[in-house]
Amino acid sequence: MYKLTKENKQIRDMFSSITGKYDFLNHFLSMNIDKIWRRAAVKMMDLSKDPSVLDVATGTADVAIEVMRQSKGKLRVVGVDFTQAMLKAAIVKTDSAVAAANRGKKRAASFDFVNAPAESLPLKDDLFDYCTIAFGIRNVIDKNAALREMVRVLKPGSEVIILEFSKPKNIVFKTGYNLYFFHVLPAVAGMFSKKGAYKYLPDSVQKFPGDKEFMRMMQDAGFCEVKVKPLSFGIASIYRGKVA
Ligand SMILES: C[S@@+](CC[C@H](N)C(=O)[O-])C[C@H]1O[C@@H](n2cnc3c(N)ncnc32)[C@H](O)[C@@H]1O
Repeated sequence: MYKLTKENKQIRDMFSSITGKYDFLNHFLSMNIDKIWRRAAVKMMDLSKDPSVLDVATGTADVAIEVMRQSKGKLRVVGVDFTQAMLKAAIVKTDSAVAAANRGKKRAASFDFVNAPAESLPLKDDLFDYCTIAFGIRNVIDKNAALREMVRVLKPGSEVIILEFSKPKNIVFKTGYNLYFFHVLPAVAGMFSKKGAYKYLPDSVQKFPGDKEFMRMMQDAGFCEVKVKPLSFGIASIYRGKVA
């Protein structure tokens, strides 16, 4: 059983404090590019056979809802997060997405939400065809434990899709990006929410391992055929890996 660390609790409190503004700030500060990235990550899944999907660090369920949007809607999505306020928002959003699907006479997905840390998932082995985690793994304190848990709950032959901020490599682009990310973004976000929360964002991206190191961590956890696809000049990346 994983015991939350002091850092886990600080991160949970921080997300709890920004839940109400989370979606607005995400879309506003990224100029809606975050939606394009989530769409690209979900597009990598084969949704034709109604796979079972686990979305770790689901937050307000944007990935879970995107999965339903791109599928025939019959599939099951389980969202896990350790911030109760985020899960409450996820339930409200998925309920209205299901109601909209029903009104449009489309089949809705079924959603379940579980309050748990990524480091210790209260789920049986070999349950899911896909596991997704978007902008989540960076915040997880014991990333190795979380990656091993994803391998454990995924079926043999299934896949993990990890969307995360990364560090752009192009020197010219990097200068403008750093100015925005380290100075403009925390200042603008600070007008709407606690300053610390959006200071934490660039800091945590800086601390996140580089591509090679993170892919090595995925392999060490048990994923094979690990690959990375940079998005938008490397501001974000999608990492994929399979379970043998
Ligand atoms: C930046 S948000 C991402 C939410 C969502 N996936 C999205 O695409 O917008 C990060 C989420 O990770 C959750 N989180 C952070 N550390 C976690 C952990 N160790 N276990 C479970 N959830 C965690 C936070 O509560 C928060 O909801």
